[in-house]
Amino acid sequence: MKYESVRGMRDILPGEIGYWKQVEEKVREVATCFHYGEIRLPLMEHTEIFSRGIGEETDVVNKEMYTFLDKKNRSLTLRPEATASVVRAYLEHGLHIREPFQKLFYIGPMFRYEKPQKGRSRQFHQYGVEAIGSLDPTLDVDVISFAWTLMDMLGLSGLSLRLNSIGCAEDRRRYKKALSGYFAIHIDEMCTDCQRRYDSNPLRILDCKKSQCQPYIQQAPASIDYLCADCARHFAEVQGYLDELGLNYGIDARLIRGLDYYTRTVFELISKDLGAQDALLGGGRYDGLVELLGGPATPAVGFAGGMERLILVLQEKNGSFGQEKRLDLFLPALGEKGRLLALTLAQGLRSQGISVDLDYRGRSLRKQLGYADQVGVRYLIILGEDEVTSRKGRIKNMDRGQEYEIALTTDAIARIVHGTKHGD
Ligand code: HAM
Repeated sequence: MKYESVRGMRDILPGEIGYWKQVEEKVREVATCFHYGEIRLPLMEHTEIFSRGIGEETDVVNKEMYTFLDKKNRSLTLRPEATASVVRAYLEHGLHIREPFQKLFYIGPMFRYEKPQKGRSRQFHQYGVEAIGSLDPTLDVDVISFAWTLMDMLGLSGLSLRLNSIGCAEDRRRYKKALSGYFAIHIDEMCTDCQRRYDSNPLRILDCKKSQCQPYIQQAPASIDYLCADCARHFAEVQGYLDELGLNYGIDARLIRGLDYYTRTVFELISKDLGAQDALLGGGRYDGLVELLGGPATPAVGFAGGMERLILVLQEKNGSFGQEKRLDLFLPALGEKGRLLALTLAQGLRSQGISVDLDYRGRSLRKQLGYADQVGVRYLIILGEDEVTSRKGRIKNMDRGQEYEIALTTDAIARIVHGTKHGD
């Protein structure tokens, strides 16, 4: 039997890990600049956290969760997203009691049983931020600015931000009523999923991607026409601050996002390089979620982006970005004594932060040199019988093709590799 990874869940191999590390580093760097603290959450939660938090009628809860019973018959779910988990942690640890205003970020795998395609997998990775404890529109803008800053730092351009407001709970009741009235005359022409959504939550009809339903969805009422005075003011202020900061956006009246917890501001950052799955990241306000999960009424806003999608766009734009740091030194060795010297020098140099590799398979010198070439090493020292006896050798700078005589001690080699003597 030939084993394969589970469909939609893939390995990330050393050859591509450079992209991942660089994106993770940039997320952490931007998080530090925006003063967000990192939170690491368990990969699974009690199912109810998601079914209540995200909403029973959403595709995520209805169709996409990996849910199972544990040995004590408790229903657990692999997290499909992290916002509900962050709120659970915020309440469980009383973060809100010490300091109700919290800015948190996370990076990690999420799980959704979706049909795998370009930019969509069943295990994927998100980086995300959650700012909990303020209703102020400057916070919405700060979160959006985080997203733009990250894209800038990664050198990405040509992206567009879609922005909308879906109002407060009361606005949404009125908006849903308007949608019900509008779809009543079209629903028989629409797909069976939409017919079900029509009864349970007509807002979710706007998530439908089927072409048969699109003409009706495109003409549906817009949420911004149903905002109360407070929500309309909030939305105007968000736009005003975005203009002030020179952050581009376009209003998308059909954007409502696929999770039930959203209120007021919603947004998505779109890349045309991604094809059908074009959302690089998405987020918005969720002013009712903390209360829904048992806490005090606490407004919040955040977003999350898919790492795979971001890396796809980076690869398309910049093939060379994402190179792993080069190997500093390779020590081709001959004979047992040569190999022992290589091992000893490697041990000392590695503990000085220098990356060193050697041959562990007793291969010929020609093969060892071929390998050094293939990995693109910076320096090379051949360790044969003469070198073992004299404890002197020649270090070769592979980029310049120059060689220098040196004593075979870790300090002498380290000085050259660190660039303090004849170095680059
Ligand atoms: P979401 O829109 O469901 O929102 O996911 C956010 C991002 O995760 C998407 O824009 C996409 O880049 C990526 N993503 C989602 N599903 C997949 C998939 N199957 N394969 C690859 N990438 C995927 C949330 O998850 C919210 N928790 C965001 C948020 C945070 N809202 C407020 N705070």
